[in-house]
Amino acid sequence: MSDTDTITLMKQAVGRVAAARVKSDSVVGLGTGSTTAYAIQYIGERLQKGEIKNIVGIPTSFQAEVLAKQYNIPLTSLDAVDHIDIAIDGADEVDPDKHMIKGGGAAHTREKVVDSLANEFIVVVDAGKLVDRLGSTFLLPVEVIPMAVSPTMRKLTALGGKPELRMGVKKAGPVVTDEGNLIIDVKFDQIENPAELEKEINNIPGVLDNGLFVGVADLVLVGEIIDGKPSVREF
Ligand code: 5RP
Repeated sequence: MSDTDTITLMKQAVGRVAAARVKSDSVVGLGTGSTTAYAIQYIGERLQKGEIKNIVGIPTSFQAEVLAKQYNIPLTSLDAVDHIDIAIDGADEVDPDKHMIKGGGAAHTREKVVDSLANEFIVVVDAGKLVDRLGSTFLLPVEVIPMAVSPTMRKLTALGGKPELRMGVKKAGPVVTDEGNLIIDVKFDQIENPAELEKEINNIPGVLDNGLFVGVADLVLVGEIIDGKPSVREF
């Protein structure tokens, strides 16, 4: 089995277990990314089979909205509901305290709004996302309004980071978020205090939010391959 097949199997396995935790009559936060995409697919399939009913989703991105429509999951907005029962979302890095870096899909600002509001926030990752310390493998995404890019880059450098503007793939120029902003990815050699860094970066004028999610996750579902078979562990 190729590495790609193995990762897909792990993502499908966690997506399925997360989708199985969605109950009838609930408001569901729909995360962004390739792992959550499987959870959205399986929630849609459970609705279709009648295993659950009366679900409404709150999408965290245009991607989540498109997938929810594809799998016939009714959507609503935060103006129309006063709570979210459960949110399911992926992550780029998860540390032993369940603090995370998110934003690989440039959706972390909306994700943080939705995931933080949920009564239960379930994170779905494959085992490769677990790290001892945040920043080990992934750059920290920072969403910024376009006119504030240069001063924000200087401030991020002063905080000890190495910032770079995220560029599009199959599109010339920078990535533009669903909110019409830009993403600066920052390499920090060691993120020793994620809670403090999250606040410090969000204090820079022009920054909307950064990808540090501290104390937000209730449960992390980790997809692994054990004896050649996909398996899911709770963490
Ligand atoms: C998007 C995110 C994603 O949840 C994160 O990048 C993980 O994605 P994937 O499941 O494709 O690895 O934070 O902004």
